[in-house]
Amino acid sequence: MNSLEFYQKKVNQEKITMVTCYDYTSARILSGTSIDCLLVGDSAAMTMHGFKDTLSATIEMMCFHTAAVRRGAGNKFIIGDLPFLSYRKSLSKNVSDAQKLMQAGAHAVKLEGATGNLSFIHHLTESGVPVMGHLGLTPQFIHTLGGYKVQGKTEESAKRIREDALQLQEAGCFALVLECIPNTIAKEITQLLSIPTIGIGAGLFTDGQVLVFQDLLGLNLDFKPKFVKFFANGHEQFKKGIEAYVDSVKAGEFPQHEHCH
Ligand code: KIV
Repeated sequence: MNSLEFYQKKVNQEKITMVTCYDYTSARILSGTSIDCLLVGDSAAMTMHGFKDTLSATIEMMCFHTAAVRRGAGNKFIIGDLPFLSYRKSLSKNVSDAQKLMQAGAHAVKLEGATGNLSFIHHLTESGVPVMGHLGLTPQFIHTLGGYKVQGKTEESAKRIREDALQLQEAGCFALVLECIPNTIAKEITQLLSIPTIGIGAGLFTDGQVLVFQDLLGLNLDFKPKFVKFFANGHEQFKKGIEAYVDSVKAGEFPQHEHCH
């Protein structure tokens, strides 16, 4: 997969599949699956570091995770998230952070929102950096949105998301994440745009879907919003494996001679 193939998939009406990934071992597993692309999301601040939101993610953190994913991901397409405020400074500082992420191993960057980002997006795409947009519930705006709430529920807010989506396409984004907006609005935007939309909590009609690795594998039982489906019972499986190991050591059944030098 490359950034041009995203567009082709939309034309062919083939769904795009994306999952977050933050580390080498998970990237190795994902590299052996048919998933289309990996997002090194700034959700790493929460899933990997235990922060309560994504505002604590830094460019150093994102580069560290991107480089680890790159080493394990084989030929999977990797999108790296630009963290909170990293692209709201001077053009040269913004470009320098995008450069760090690309040189750490991303094939594209993602950033949140449209207003104030358009000329930077245009500059990046003109400089060889594919950019993925992100609208709707944009977690880096948690304090202006007043919490993790579904966006686009009023006509005014839906209109703003529609207009922002068109502007991001115009600025050169190759794809757009739509997070937590009503099914109908996501459908309308998907039909309006020639670039693909990738939904999370945005219903059935987007051109693709993204979920957080820990969520889709059922690793984190404390977090189960409506849009998450556990496709595996990861938490239980991990615990079973650990308990089997503990029991086995205590019973003197592990290691056996075959495990010894
Ligand atoms: O950081 C992230 O995991 C994301 C996805 C929720 C789209 O941006």
